[in-house]
Amino acid sequence: MSRTVYVNGEYLPEEDATISIFDRGFLMADGVYEVTSVLGGKLIDFDGHAARLARSLAELDMAQPITYEDLLAVHRELVVRNQIDNGLVYLQVTRGNPGDRDFVFPDPTETPGTVVLFTQSKPDLIDSPVAAAGIEVISVPDLRWHRRDIKTVQLLYPSMGKMAAKAAGAGDAWFVEDGQVTEGTSNNAYIVRNGKIVTRELSNDILHGITRAAVLRYAAEAQMEVEERAFTIAEAQSADEAFVTSATTFVTAVISIDGAQIGDGKPGPVARRLREIYIDESLKAAL
Ligand code: PDD
Repeated sequence: MSRTVYVNGEYLPEEDATISIFDRGFLMADGVYEVTSVLGGKLIDFDGHAARLARSLAELDMAQPITYEDLLAVHRELVVRNQIDNGLVYLQVTRGNPGDRDFVFPDPTETPGTVVLFTQSKPDLIDSPVAAAGIEVISVPDLRWHRRDIKTVQLLYPSMGKMAAKAAGAGDAWFVEDGQVTEGTSNNAYIVRNGKIVTRELSNDILHGITRAAVLRYAAEAQMEVEERAFTIAEAQSADEAFVTSATTFVTAVISIDGAQIGDGKPGPVARRLREIYIDESLKAAL
């Protein structure tokens, strides 16, 4: 079935949607994005994603091309038109099409940003077999640029990380810099030691995950102890549990790192409980 997608103010069948070859998103990876999950036809953590989009745009001196209200309306309209029960809405904003290739940013009053949204259906988002089994990860060096707090579409290196994981028979890769884990290729990374949840503190070294913020809030409300600091692969390998969070995986256990089994090799109680709390609470607050 052909989806309806959104491009610069218009709803179109996906086969009719086009972007200029001069769009800076295409030529320069000059764009930012957000992924918002949909459960039961409702948007999860929408306000967090909208706020991070505004921050990413501001950090790159890009104009906000769409209001919060319109953004929410477009998300909802696409979910309805494409009959998404469980899945996601992908949103991308680029610096637009200045009509030529040039490293210098165009004047935003002359070149409006490009706004694209589309949906992907994922029926087993909650009852995911991957989440039930947990994932194996490998470590790879973190060779990304140093503004990882901005959610840009420069995803070549994370894609290479996923390919290295696939080649090693693993589900994902964790990035390591200066001997410490930064994050996963498309998620934030955690370990659990003696009941305490450990995850790297916020800085320009990692993406400020919207799921991370919600999970840490729910963990604190459930009287679970949280420590925000970096950790090494060796510390993670000897941890009681490990897990990742993102908009599309929620909380997913990590059962081995570079071939070393974590705990008993099954999703642990902290990761399972946090996944349950996150899904329950997010559904209550869904828009
Ligand atoms: N990725 N770190 C990185 C590098 C990410 O790409 C993501 C999200 C996260 C988690 O952020 P959040 O909880 O806000 O989804 C952390 C999205 C899902 C993606 O690229 O598909």
